[in-house]
Amino acid sequence: MKARRRFSGSSSRVRFSGSERSQAHARWYRTVAEQYDHLYDSGRVTKAYPFLHDLFRRRGPVLDVLDVACGTFALDLPLLRRGYRITGRDASAEMLRIARRQLMGSGRSADLGQADMRTLGLDREFDAILCLGTAFNYLAKAIDIRRALRGFRRHVRKDGLLVLDLTNFDAWIRNPQNARAEVDYRAPDGTRIAVFGFNEQDLTRSIHLARFLTVVQTGRGIDLRFDEAPLRIWTKDSLTTALQGNGFKPVEWWGDLRLGARYDRRRSPRLVSVSTRAEH
Ligand SMILES: C[S@@+](CC[C@H](N)C(=O)[O-])C[C@H]1O[C@@H](n2cnc3c(N)ncnc32)[C@H](O)[C@@H]1O
Repeated sequence: MKARRRFSGSSSRVRFSGSERSQAHARWYRTVAEQYDHLYDSGRVTKAYPFLHDLFRRRGPVLDVLDVACGTFALDLPLLRRGYRITGRDASAEMLRIARRQLMGSGRSADLGQADMRTLGLDREFDAILCLGTAFNYLAKAIDIRRALRGFRRHVRKDGLLVLDLTNFDAWIRNPQNARAEVDYRAPDGTRIAVFGFNEQDLTRSIHLARFLTVVQTGRGIDLRFDEAPLRIWTKDSLTTALQGNGFKPVEWWGDLRLGARYDRRRSPRLVSVSTRAEH
């Protein structure tokens, strides 16, 4: 008994907070939402704004923008500051909580709400729709992809834009990074988040199985969780077919959300498609 007390007094408390297998690993976002903006490429936000602003100027007029998986709103805030009207929707209440806090800090206003991109019902049309940061890859089933694309089409005006920013799995498959430490982040308050990925591709089904172990250390408490999410593998050809079959016409391809990032199937980190609403 005595030995046990000494042990618990000096070691970490490790808790396994579960495993989840789902399309959008919603509980994972609950775990990491607070730190999400610091976990991945920090230059992403700075690069995305000039890319989007340039695109909207070239193919505009664009003023009214709907982001269907806005996450923490990090990519939208610079647009909002430049005078774009942004409506943000996301499936995760936790990501939206961070989005609302950041919005309040910006002193601007925007319409933010919880919604699933497969069943949008905003009852109006926008100049442009954004679906960024791999969110569209989460739709793995054909029926979900169709529902989402048809919904996007109902929400974009004639000649309006749809911007999809996807993982470029062509490059990934050529240069697999299937077992790797993806994140090791220490927040200023001492919280530490580490993410280890163990991925696998099922090429016959065009599915990338994202599996990852997430470790969150707060003080002496360590939370472990394991998640698995099927992501749709898109290529330029398969995406062209899906877009054309659902009322969109692809007009530009880019290799990143960055000005001048030419798309190279074998090397680009991202597959970014810009489409316009096609007339039936
Ligand atoms: C990787 S994050 C990207 C967030 C943001 N677009 C960005 O680029 O920073 C993916 C986001 O998609 C959201 N999401 C996943 N499936 C969704 C769905 N069916 N409808 C709406 N949002 C969804 C998640 O909650 C999460 O916030």
